[in-house]
Amino acid sequence: MSTLITNIGELVTNAPVGDPGPAGPGEDPGEFSAITGAAVVIDGGHIAWTGAAGRAPAADDIVDARGRAVLPGYVDSHAHLVFAGERGAEFAARMAGQPYTAGGIASTVAATRAASDVTLRAGLRRLADEMLRQGTTTLECKSGYGLTVRDEARSLMLAAEVTPEVTFLGAHVVPPEYSRDPAGYLDLVCGPMLDACAPHARWIDVFCEEGAFGADEATAVLAAGRARGLLPRVHANQLGPGPGVRVAVEAGAASADHCTHLTNADVDLLASSRTVATLLPGVEFSCRQPYPDARRLLGAGVTVAIATDCNPGSCFTSSMALCVALAVREMGMTTQEAVWSATAGGAVALQRADVGHLGVGARADLLMLDAPSHTYLAYRPGVPLTAAVWREGRMAAARPQVLAR
Ligand code: NIG
Ligand code: FE
Repeated sequence: MSTLITNIGELVTNAPVGDPGPAGPGEDPGEFSAITGAAVVIDGGHIAWTGAAGRAPAADDIVDARGRAVLPGYVDSHAHLVFAGERGAEFAARMAGQPYTAGGIASTVAATRAASDVTLRAGLRRLADEMLRQGTTTLECKSGYGLTVRDEARSLMLAAEVTPEVTFLGAHVVPPEYSRDPAGYLDLVCGPMLDACAPHARWIDVFCEEGAFGADEATAVLAAGRARGLLPRVHANQLGPGPGVRVAVEAGAASADHCTHLTNADVDLLASSRTVATLLPGVEFSCRQPYPDARRLLGAGVTVAIATDCNPGSCFTSSMALCVALAVREMGMTTQEAVWSATAGGAVALQRADVGHLGVGARADLLMLDAPSHTYLAYRPGVPLTAAVWREGRMAAARPQVLAR
């Protein structure tokens, strides 16, 4: 069953025009690229053809985009969706002048431990569905609010129900029962907890920050994970300058996430590595912090991704569109750079060649906007612009007017 989507005002492909084959393993997708007056054919869950609407081949079904823009689905490469409870009062206190600290994580840990699988699964599915309806067709999901062997393993098993991009974050913070024995907690994370968790995850992450884990501890966690077949990524340089980026680059991490406080040496390290800088502007918005300088990173040649960091503490948005708008308005990115970073950039951060672009053979993950171009994501901030979403070739969400013939 093939579908032709035609009369597309702007088709963002992130793939070279003419030979838009999928990137190979370890190869980055193309730069931002778009075709105006375009069409796309999807077949068997993959992109079969893209080009000028007038030259489109026939298909079993036709969708008339009526001049709307179509983008690759967002790749949200950083989210914490397995948790119970909420921290609205903590957010309100921040807006009244309190600073964000890693300490708030403990309240979510307590609520998560006390919650049933049914409660955790319901919250996770609600957020994953919320993301999909907004155009996020690939998401990463971390553990990190269990912090016991049992609660971390069940968090990962639940996360695996909604995505293959599952990340073990037992090294989120030292839980209260280990506050006098942080070394004992590190041994637990690198030993029995990792044994129980590695089979359920693809990635290992560590919060390398004052109040969480230092450079040597973070390096040990990532090495233990690698020895169990997990690929590293790091929460780095969020709350202040520190060793996170260096730890990430030295470990060969796919991504250093946050990157809010960087020295010139950090930028140089990122530029000389394959480690992506994943920026999470919703966090700075929700913590009333200065934004990272994306222009500085892009100018140095660093690959930049944008993700939500959706979590109940530092940033409770699931909206990649908001993050794109913030990246453009507050971090000095062009609209094209921000959209690339929210799609292809996220794919590089997850080492995925099949998503984040619409080259022939890519997964048919598409976001149709109720707007003629990607620019509207920043030009009309806060406006719900999602007209339709396809995941693996199947329509996953649509406004009625898109379906009308
Ligand atoms: O990415 N920085 C550490 N972890 C999360 C926040 C977790 C929380 O506050 O609950 C983050 O911002
Ligand atoms: Fe995070």
